[in-house]
Amino acid sequence: MPPAAAFIGLLMIRILLLISILLPAASGFGQSKADVELAPTPPMGWMTWNYFGDNINEQVLREMADAIVASGMVNAGYRYLMIDDGWQGGRDNKNNIIPDPKKFPSGIKALADYVHSRGMKLGIYSDAAPLTCAGYTASLNFEEQDAKTFASWGVDYLKYDYCHAPKDAESAKIRYRKMADALRRSGSIVFSVCEWGERKPWLWAANVGGHLWRTTFDVRDKWQRKSGETDGEGLMDILDVNAELHQFSGPGRWNDPDMLIVGLYGKKGPSGDLGGVGCNDTEYQSNMSLWSIMAAPLIATNDVRSMNRETKRILLNAEVIAVNQDALGKQGERKIKNDIWNVFVKPLANGDVAVAILNRSESNRTFSLSWKELGLAGSFEMRDLWEHKIIGRSERWNGNVKSHETKLFRLKRTK
Ligand code: GLA
Repeated sequence: MPPAAAFIGLLMIRILLLISILLPAASGFGQSKADVELAPTPPMGWMTWNYFGDNINEQVLREMADAIVASGMVNAGYRYLMIDDGWQGGRDNKNNIIPDPKKFPSGIKALADYVHSRGMKLGIYSDAAPLTCAGYTASLNFEEQDAKTFASWGVDYLKYDYCHAPKDAESAKIRYRKMADALRRSGSIVFSVCEWGERKPWLWAANVGGHLWRTTFDVRDKWQRKSGETDGEGLMDILDVNAELHQFSGPGRWNDPDMLIVGLYGKKGPSGDLGGVGCNDTEYQSNMSLWSIMAAPLIATNDVRSMNRETKRILLNAEVIAVNQDALGKQGERKIKNDIWNVFVKPLANGDVAVAILNRSESNRTFSLSWKELGLAGSFEMRDLWEHKIIGRSERWNGNVKSHETKLFRLKRTK
């Protein structure tokens, strides 16, 4: 081959290589069809952290899987049983990560098999540093090996935390991409980015292989930070961050405002510190309504083995879950925002629209709202998704909303 032809040939190869690297990033969020298919709707499940902290073991997890099945939660969509921090027992003499032999004497594969046999999927946890947030063995520099191990156990989901890692966004992108690539080579594993929104992951996490990303610090079991309190996120503190990020969310790439606190009632666990004194059922119902209209992952954390009727009613409301899991995958947009009222609007796949009306104030109030104010021209049949009934056909709604209550309606255009 003449030198000029060889040079052109080499140049072409280089250009093709560059295109293949840049192409995924150029396609919006850089996600393949396979990525979208791994989390086409917000992941739903139950996670150990808020209630148990690192005080977990295989017995508790099996009991929880049984309770999730028996309570109807699996059928309602809560498919993932997620082990958070505290399962790890170091590495063996070949550097394979191993579970704590006292907590998980039968190993994680046996647990995954059990969970799968119950129609569920298994999630696990690690961190992009040598140690996790609670000080257990983590995955930095063992990404390939750990991804293979997780896949060999049958793990379906990985939450990847960011304690003890560098502050800057570039390092985070590199560390998350490294694990995402390793997971992709090992199997089909949903990848949950958990750096608490500090480096604006909504701008880059989908590009590096994340399917969801935490937008805030850890939720506590409380409504809102009190004035003067600087730590401990309550539901309203988290809402105010997550609501502003609606344009970054969609199928395969979800904003994650952290786990549900429904049914915790001030339990002294990780969600009970920093002012986590507990909420009432009206507030827990708002948690469910608001997370649903924001297309957030629905990850329960209460003790499913002993749920009361209210907690069941809230977590198992199929009409509310349908709003969250709607195939269009739009995060509801906050169209009205003042100290008293927040109103969210979420378009749904069949042309209906979900509307959430939150009373943030400390007193019960009446509200009058024309759908036109939300950009919805025309008349609508209104279904109350908590009352489970059609409440009228109109161009507007007037009614009472209790302090901290969220009404959730499904509107169907009638003309
Ligand atoms: C961080 C995460 C929590 C939980 C703990 C575990 O704080 O944000 O969700 O995973 O670590 O140590």
